Amino acid sequence: MCGIVGYLGERPVMPVLIKGLQRLEYRGYDSSGIAIVGGPTSSTEARANALQLFKRKGKVQDLIDHIGGAKPEGKVGIGHTRWATHGAPNDLNAHPHRSGNGRLALIHNGIIENYHAIKESLIQRGHTFESDTDTEVLVHLIEEILAGGDCDLFKAVRLALSEVDGAYAIAVVDATSPGEVVVARKSSPLVLGIGDGEYFIASDATPIVEYTKNVVYLEDEEVARISLEDGLKILTINNNTVTPVIEALEVEIEAIEKGGYEHFMLKEIHEQPRSIADCLRGRVRLDHGKITMAGIDDHTEMWTQAQRVIIVGCGTSWHAGLVAEYLFEDFARIPVEVEYASEFRYRNPVINKGDIVIAISQSGETADTLAAIRMAKERGAHIFGVCNVVGSSISREADSGAYTHAGPEIGVASTKAFTAQVTVLALLALRVGWLRGEVDSAMLARMMVELQAIPDKIEVLLSQEEKVREIAKAYCQAPNALFLGRGYNFPVALEGALKLKEISYIHAEGYPAAEIKHGPIALIDEDMPIFFVATQDAHYEKVVSNMQEVKARGGRIIAVVTRGDTQAAALANHVIEVPKTADALVPLLSTVPFQLLSYHIAVMLERNVDQPRNLAKSVTVE
Ligand code: M6R
Repeated sequence: MCGIVGYLGERPVMPVLIKGLQRLEYRGYDSSGIAIVGGPTSSTEARANALQLFKRKGKVQDLIDHIGGAKPEGKVGIGHTRWATHGAPNDLNAHPHRSGNGRLALIHNGIIENYHAIKESLIQRGHTFESDTDTEVLVHLIEEILAGGDCDLFKAVRLALSEVDGAYAIAVVDATSPGEVVVARKSSPLVLGIGDGEYFIASDATPIVEYTKNVVYLEDEEVARISLEDGLKILTINNNTVTPVIEALEVEIEAIEKGGYEHFMLKEIHEQPRSIADCLRGRVRLDHGKITMAGIDDHTEMWTQAQRVIIVGCGTSWHAGLVAEYLFEDFARIPVEVEYASEFRYRNPVINKGDIVIAISQSGETADTLAAIRMAKERGAHIFGVCNVVGSSISREADSGAYTHAGPEIGVASTKAFTAQVTVLALLALRVGWLRGEVDSAMLARMMVELQAIPDKIEVLLSQEEKVREIAKAYCQAPNALFLGRGYNFPVALEGALKLKEISYIHAEGYPAAEIKHGPIALIDEDMPIFFVATQDAHYEKVVSNMQEVKARGGRIIAVVTRGDTQAAALANHVIEVPKTADALVPLLSTVPFQLLSYHIAVMLERNVDQPRNLAKSVTVE
């Protein structure tokens, strides 16, 4: 959830840290801070006091204002942007946290689960604490181990971490040793950028990409010492040597900037024609009449024999999983269960030989999804990852998988990642259906043509943005909203409601349209906007009947309909048309108006669209 950043090298440290924090702010934004060491002091004693630390509640801009004209100098620094878990968002709980002697500073993303017990024993040994965080305990523990002598910072961090339960990505600096940073990770991401005589540390590649494309992904339970003198050394917590593997980043700087849009979310909505085209590229082979996906083609027998697919994910990714349930049933004829990763991981699921678990995650770092696949893997399932972030934990721990290729998604509300996930899952279901003999050449050819046409159809949809904005204006003051759909559009209704609530803070619920008779219909009156997805698919007539029921009770209906529709349109107060496509691909289109609608409502309500309250992009704590 939090973002961590660090730098060692000849550049002025503070601007690198601040820019890094701004890039990472989407991960958590309730407070932030930096610590810089190695300023122009000479004696060891003076250096011990030379930890230049600034932290502030609020956005990174509040930190910048707090730093004001101060110009902390040094060659080494660390920074943190926080999403609070233990302790309220305030100045004291902001990271970095200092050791009792003020010599060490530490930043942390994750949760130290046994912090209470460690804290109690540290208090008994005379430690006092400034904050309510779990993190501060860790820096005191490292301090105590260092004070015991016979040990440098690198070793002290390993020893301290061996006492810790939980998840962490940390970076620690020592004012008396100003040319080094010690970092470590377990279940929270950490990337090291390797430049020419300089090093970068970050939770993800976004703060690194403009400086270097060479990165090392730290693995779980690895601890690294990065030193301006001695370079990079990695050991496991148990002291085994690890040879760093340098990988090349494929992200371009333009992909992580707003490119003229007011918000990342709007940019990302408009990127969908391109992101879907990227997702299809090389996979839909119209010339060969087939779909190719390396992640499946390397395991054709497994997919042919599969008895069951279990899909795990959270939030929007879980919604993509619900769409996949329909896709797999329609095309591959494999029984599918879709599970919230957070529930699945704590159940005692029956996993049989031949079961495949598909983990869907934009970030590839969601703690619950990661834990779910670890549990399923232990029980013998094959894990297939559908991730967007290349090199992320889930993508690396999965046995096979397919990237969504949507490009970096910075807005907290997931948009292009969702449509790219659905695209990959459609390809997957079709490919597996073909392998199992459930999809014939004619069907495959038709679906491939339909898929190829989706980017242009989304362009058509996006050209109606002004109309969606007008609808947003009419309903932005509504306190509640319902989203209804059936079949492939049921997950779209859930996703529409999630989008609206997370960025506008308007209470919204999504239901299968027929379910309203079992309770929610009681909510309907002339003040309640009801967003129907009533495209001309297998459920069209049924949905029209549900619209009649709502209309009869005075509900105000906004309907997403197929272009040229008259029947459903006649029942609605407002209509948004989507181009015709195959039923199975409708979610790729019908979801877009709801993204735009939520965006414009949130803007009209002056919400922080890209960083909505209480949320964070990557949920790396359970
Ligand atoms: O990175 P993931 O796809 O695993 O994230 C899962 C959810 O946290 C995420 O989809 C969340 O629901 C979105 N912010 C919704 O827009």
